[in-house]
Amino acid sequence: MKTYRIAAIPADGIGPEVIAAGLQALEALQRRDGGFRLDVTSFDWGSDYYKKTGAMMPEDGTERLKAFDAIFFGAVGAPDVPDHTTLWGLRLPICQGFDQYANVRPTRILPGIRSPLADVGLGDLDWVIVRENSEGEYSGIGGRAHKGLPEEVGTEVSIFTRVGVTRIMRYAFKLAQSRPRKLLTVVTKSNAQRFGMVMWDEIAAEVAKDYPDVTWDKMLVDAMTVRMVKNPRSLDTIVATNLHADILSDLAGALAGSLGVAPTANIDPERRYPSMFEPIHGSAFDITGKGIANPVATFWTAAQMLEHLGEPAAADRLMRAVEKVCADGVMTPDVGGMATTRQVTEAVCEAIRMENI
Ligand code: IPM
Ligand code: MG
Repeated sequence: MKTYRIAAIPADGIGPEVIAAGLQALEALQRRDGGFRLDVTSFDWGSDYYKKTGAMMPEDGTERLKAFDAIFFGAVGAPDVPDHTTLWGLRLPICQGFDQYANVRPTRILPGIRSPLADVGLGDLDWVIVRENSEGEYSGIGGRAHKGLPEEVGTEVSIFTRVGVTRIMRYAFKLAQSRPRKLLTVVTKSNAQRFGMVMWDEIAAEVAKDYPDVTWDKMLVDAMTVRMVKNPRSLDTIVATNLHADILSDLAGALAGSLGVAPTANIDPERRYPSMFEPIHGSAFDITGKGIANPVATFWTAAQMLEHLGEPAAADRLMRAVEKVCADGVMTPDVGGMATTRQVTEAVCEAIRMENI
């Protein structure tokens, strides 16, 4: 039997609640499937760890994670620790240290969940946003000088490299090619940003030549927000820079009904390092401990993880179970339901056990 080593890092806020739910569903899948096993090790890294030790994870943290096949991640962020400390102390070192350069964010309207767009229903919105995840506006290059003085300066430098842009374009074109509509939209801002973004456009056009069966177009990021709202059916696969895709994926999540259902996969397509799977929603301290966190994003990202590990049948079964439970109306309050995290999780596990799922 195939065994995969999974590092679980529940971390902050509702992270532990949704990761526990995800592991429960994965357990049910293993029992149902019988063909694979997940060997899970949990790490207590995050903001509490930071308050005790002064670091979000141990110095050899990423070194220790290298031994795993995948990382199942909750959320980082705490009200009493600066956001840039939590982010640059745990999540970004993993994404960047493991060169997880493709961030894949599928958006779909699930049955039973209403889009805020009046005339948009099931099947009308089925997108995958590919976010460049290793450079761009999140390169970490910049600095501050003359701190506190009137002449203080802060720089935040975006880095676009030919290697970085080419590989994310290839990933996006290939993904678009694998989907039925073979349709890719390249998001840019090359009217105002004359260097990196113009190179981005040029490389997109170069890479496009290797994918003649993919129809592609280019959209300025501001106009893209309008298109997502006004003409969602015209989009399928979308590729954008780190920051543009960060913003667009929140919009995508909201248009699909809730950020509570939106998953993300931080992928090293070359498989040199473990990839990392997490819900997009973040630590959500306002509802932490209330037992009402929506576990659907975590189930969905668990399905992405199974897919990446090479267990597509289990991934599909998990998504079918989630869709059934949503269609039955067993949902948390953020998507208009009345169920708790536990009730949704139990319903999904029950569905996984059913014959016809
Ligand atoms: C996301 C999040 C993060 C990001 C935050 C927590 C820094 O918004 O995954 O989209 O901007 O990358
Ligand atoms: Mg975001």
